Amino acid sequence: MADDARLERLQGMLRQRGVLLPAFDLYGGAKGLYDFGPVGGRLRSKINQAWLNHWTSLGNVVEVSSPTVTPYEVLEASGHVGEFSDFMTQCGECDEASRADTLLEPHHPNPDSLNGEDLQALLDDVSPKCPACGVVSWSPIEAQNLMFSTTIGAGSSGRPGFMRPETAQGMFTMFPALYRHFREQLPFGAIQVGKGYRNEISPRQGMIRLREFNMAEMEYFIDPSIQESHDFSKWDSTLMELLDGEGEVHTLSLTHAISSGLIRHQTVGFFMGKTYDFLLELGIDSQKVRFRQHAPDEMAHYASDCWDVELHGSYGWIECVGIAHRGCYDLEAHEKASGRTLRARREFLEPKIMEIDGWTIDGGVAGPAFRGDAGQVKELVESLDLETEFPVDVVLNDGRTLTVESQHVKRVQKTVKETGEWFIPHVVEPAFGIDRILWHVLDHAYDESEKGGEPYRMLKLSSLVAPIDVVILPLFEKNGMDEIASELHKRCCMIPNLVSMYDASGSIGKRYARADEIGVPLCITVDHQSLEDNTVTMRKRDDGSQVRISIDELPFL
Ligand code: GLY
Repeated sequence: MADDARLERLQGMLRQRGVLLPAFDLYGGAKGLYDFGPVGGRLRSKINQAWLNHWTSLGNVVEVSSPTVTPYEVLEASGHVGEFSDFMTQCGECDEASRADTLLEPHHPNPDSLNGEDLQALLDDVSPKCPACGVVSWSPIEAQNLMFSTTIGAGSSGRPGFMRPETAQGMFTMFPALYRHFREQLPFGAIQVGKGYRNEISPRQGMIRLREFNMAEMEYFIDPSIQESHDFSKWDSTLMELLDGEGEVHTLSLTHAISSGLIRHQTVGFFMGKTYDFLLELGIDSQKVRFRQHAPDEMAHYASDCWDVELHGSYGWIECVGIAHRGCYDLEAHEKASGRTLRARREFLEPKIMEIDGWTIDGGVAGPAFRGDAGQVKELVESLDLETEFPVDVVLNDGRTLTVESQHVKRVQKTVKETGEWFIPHVVEPAFGIDRILWHVLDHAYDESEKGGEPYRMLKLSSLVAPIDVVILPLFEKNGMDEIASELHKRCCMIPNLVSMYDASGSIGKRYARADEIGVPLCITVDHQSLEDNTVTMRKRDDGSQVRISIDELPFL
């Protein structure tokens, strides 16, 4: 770790100033759960809002919100029930559970990419000590599903469910409403900020690994047959650090990374650029951003390509954003499991004339025989070869098998003109871990210096995210200074999107120091002269400079 003492001082300051606090501290706390306190709450919501604004500015993106409680079938179809797990091992001495790949980090460049067998072999080989008790005694590695399970409803009508592990599934299952909203024209995106839940095996790194966390995801639906094309000129002179799937570093512009084939999909590359811009807008240090491509065996079960955006801070390089090409994985899976169509239509440039010689259903017989399944049976029968001999078994989307007999079908010979076709859209997904980003915003903004021989600490936050915009300080709470100050505070509180704090407690120097520790860009002090001429001093956080200004000329009023 870069500097443990600095990290401890930063965490202590954030706790003391009400930015981030371990949750349920009254009861001894709960690992992996955090409170955003009286200052942190607005920091989080400002980052969320900046994220929403950033993506809606694309023009074809809408904000949605779906439930965090999710039925079992949805997450079974998405593959999370079967695949969403980490490898766990438990200490035989103290029972502490650990993630096997985390234990093995000092012994392998990317243990996350190893399968269970290889992890077991490496664990046996290097025998790391238990981080909790120091003893070496590990249980055999086993896969542990990370979802919190729950029951939706009570009694025998209760249905099994989970707290969602990602917001994405709500947006896939909402696809028909999105498609209608966008007048059946791709591409378009749905965005959502909200809570996600993962029952992490051993959350040890503050805000980095949480069991309940804030996510922000976009599902961007595209037609895979259309050559993606985006304008990268904005980033032409920005060299980015890109690590490929083998861990080799390339320092390239995005344009060059696309033309050389390092980034395979234009839309993935474009979202990498947009993500880079967003992070810098929040105040992230450009020297502490890099992109890392997943190795094929490291990718999530739904992804065909994935680039992480990693930020450097007190915990080293940390994945904060994943930009994944999910192909048609999710919509296809939900089509299959639900039996509903999740497709978009594309029109051909020229109509296609097709000679059909095959089978279709005889509606008069097949309709009553197959009832609600007749539509699917028709599709399946029409895909059969002319040589097919009946009876034949067909398998429906939901896995049921039906027998189609010769009286259910008839031969069809015709010429048809097709003007278009239905297909399953592909999806590119930028997924942001808001808590991790928020942590790095604080980490990069944290500045330590000295004042009068004493340590002096400050958060140099961008005004886009600073949780308190202005602090109003009466030099003394007497002679009318307090009245002018509280009048001014009230005026500020009436301004939309401006948060003002009134602070009359302690010396003016202490009050400036407290304001600097929570990153307030401007302090306004009401003093004796204010009583004479209605002026105040306006102090800027970063250089401590002060100007005298009439109240009515304050820039934010
Ligand atoms: N949807 C991306 C993730 O779950 O990390």
